Amino acid sequence: TGYTTYDPGFVNTASTKSAITYIDGDAGILRYRGYPIEQLAQRSTFIEVSYLLIYGELPTPSQLEDFTDRIRRHTLLHEDLKHFFDGFPRNAHPMPVLSSVTNALSAYYEDSLDLHDQAQVELSTVRLLAKLPTIAAYAYKKSVGQPFLYPDNSLGLVENFLRMTFGLPAEPYEVDPELAAALDMLLILHADHEQNCSTSTVRLVGSSEANLFTSVSGGINALWGPLHGGANQAVLEMLERIRADGGDAEKFMRRVKNREDGVRLMGFGHRVYKNYDPRAAIVKKTADAVLSRLGGDDQLLEIAKTVEERALTDDYFTERKLYPNVDFYTGVIYRAMGFPTRMFTVLFAMGRLPGWIAHWRELHQEPVRIGRPRQVYTGYSEREYLDLASR
Ligand code: CMC
Repeated sequence: TGYTTYDPGFVNTASTKSAITYIDGDAGILRYRGYPIEQLAQRSTFIEVSYLLIYGELPTPSQLEDFTDRIRRHTLLHEDLKHFFDGFPRNAHPMPVLSSVTNALSAYYEDSLDLHDQAQVELSTVRLLAKLPTIAAYAYKKSVGQPFLYPDNSLGLVENFLRMTFGLPAEPYEVDPELAAALDMLLILHADHEQNCSTSTVRLVGSSEANLFTSVSGGINALWGPLHGGANQAVLEMLERIRADGGDAEKFMRRVKNREDGVRLMGFGHRVYKNYDPRAAIVKKTADAVLSRLGGDDQLLEIAKTVEERALTDDYFTERKLYPNVDFYTGVIYRAMGFPTRMFTVLFAMGRLPGWIAHWRELHQEPVRIGRPRQVYTGYSEREYLDLASR
């Protein structure tokens, strides 16, 4: 058309400027606000990283205390909102439950919907950070038919989530500090990844001046797809299929290479990384440690390692620069922690939340221009309408 750039999948189109996350896909570098992911994973905490992403700087001790405290005061769900969970079938996948209840927050907190009032934006930010783990834990409780637990605000965010997920009202639940630390670290690794599909969705929805809860709910839905966050569930199912089929990784890889039924090696490949995903490198190291500590399914981890080994020396994968991504090893760890496969993408969403919030807020730092891509029209030119009787 002369003025429209055609770029399906946005392979080469920057939709925004952003100062939050830097990726060098060829070198395998990831930094949040300038800090290397390796340092944050090793030395920081999820709550601190959330602060860093949202406000741009690492918090001072008093800022961190204040932030943690504010989040703590908002972990409860409105009693009426809890009825939402009753409307879903018991075997509902927890991702649509998570996105629906997150979206419903807009109906419960109309007071925090004024995008132009900074104090209200602050309040929605804190509410969302506090309530999403509660919603996630209840989505799980619903699926196993157990009663919801109220948050215990003497606990930290991750510990509270673990207790609400695995605890029972009649029994005291001791949070395993090593399990909590491992989950905290995995959440850090997922906390942001610049303009990925779900974050771009949050920005696009937000660009119509839709509120934070609704925009993030859109992001959760985008994340659910198996090519994005849903890949962590798909990886585990793939590993189980390989095992059920005799554990022959080679046979499965042949199917992938021959593109039988469009089968892909889940947890491999990335739009931006044409090198080892730095997050996957950290997760892989953690997998051994967590499994030996918690006694997980070593067989699945072994199959995963064999698949990776084969892929990294196979022309099909090396020519296309396909390396393991963050989702390749996380599922094995989540499984060892006791999460059912269907909860994996929910954990990804919990991790990605501060990134979504940071991008939504960055978008609103300047007057927003509504996102409105163009198209290349390929349909009919003008046609004459035919009356029903003549068709
Ligand atoms: N298995 C087999 N072949 C693959 C794979 C794979 N996982 N990924 C890409 N390819 C091939 C693809 O068929 C194509 O080959 P050819 O040029 O001969 O047709 C080439 O590699 C380039 O792939 P693409 O589809 O153009 O790459 P993309 O940038 O559009 O897609 C991706 C990126 C992540 C969607 C894709 O690699 C994929 O489907 N991977 C599996 C799903 C997955 O693990 N997703 C998680 C992504 S990381 C974190 C997250 O977002 O959740």
